[in-house]
Amino acid sequence: MPKIHLIANWKAHPGTVSEARRLALDACDAITRSRSIELVLAVPHPFLSAVAEVLGKKRGIVLAAQDVSAYEEGAHTGSVTASMLKSIGVQEVIVGHSERRSNGLTDEGVSARVHKLLKRGLTVVICVGEKARDMYGNYLKAIESQVLAALKNAPKSAARKLVIAYEPLWAIGEDAISSDTPEGFREVAIYIRKVLSAQFGPTAAVKIPVLYGGSVNSKNAEQFLREGHASGLLIGRASLKSKDFNDIIAGAERVGKERV
Ligand code: PGA
Repeated sequence: MPKIHLIANWKAHPGTVSEARRLALDACDAITRSRSIELVLAVPHPFLSAVAEVLGKKRGIVLAAQDVSAYEEGAHTGSVTASMLKSIGVQEVIVGHSERRSNGLTDEGVSARVHKLLKRGLTVVICVGEKARDMYGNYLKAIESQVLAALKNAPKSAARKLVIAYEPLWAIGEDAISSDTPEGFREVAIYIRKVLSAQFGPTAAVKIPVLYGGSVNSKNAEQFLREGHASGLLIGRASLKSKDFNDIIAGAERVGKERV
């Protein structure tokens, strides 16, 4: 059985590098005995090297970035490229988070980033999600078009390096209405897999992890994994509180043991 993919998305937290080291150390402690979880720390760019040092050669924890430039090295002030990230030990990168999209990131920008990351052999976590649900199922079309746009012209071999995170916008952050339900997630995940299957074939598509994100906490995490059959979770706020995050890890570990 594949490991449960848990991504801690720290967003623009914490404020200092020493706090970042502390969070990373806590994550290392929490994951020590886990055999069923692949823990991914999605860290702000300035702290990536410090967290890479803390993680060292620890197995079961992956270093991730929260975004990447659509460009290669060159005259692009302020940009951080895929090869820079790779050279400091980043293995995975989030692309197309709604908080980047709301800052002007377009579908074309997402696709350009995906291609740059795949070229460097990095794993890409593509975030998709609708702004609002409607009773006619149009939201599924919105999700489909985000997936297709992100993966435009992606070769079949890309399937091994992809993760899809379904994050409905209404479920994310302090202003969330609520989280989705495990059933709601399951329906969307089936739909996403159909879209992936059309592009990569059913055998490859079934292996692409489809995660749930949006107000995941220590109370609902296990339900999304068990009842929602999520391949993993993308966790924002709760990943910054060590006690909550430890509880999520423990819950995921229980589900992981049942899945074996
Ligand atoms: P949240 O954020 O868990 O704080 O809702 C999730 C995300 O935006 O990745």
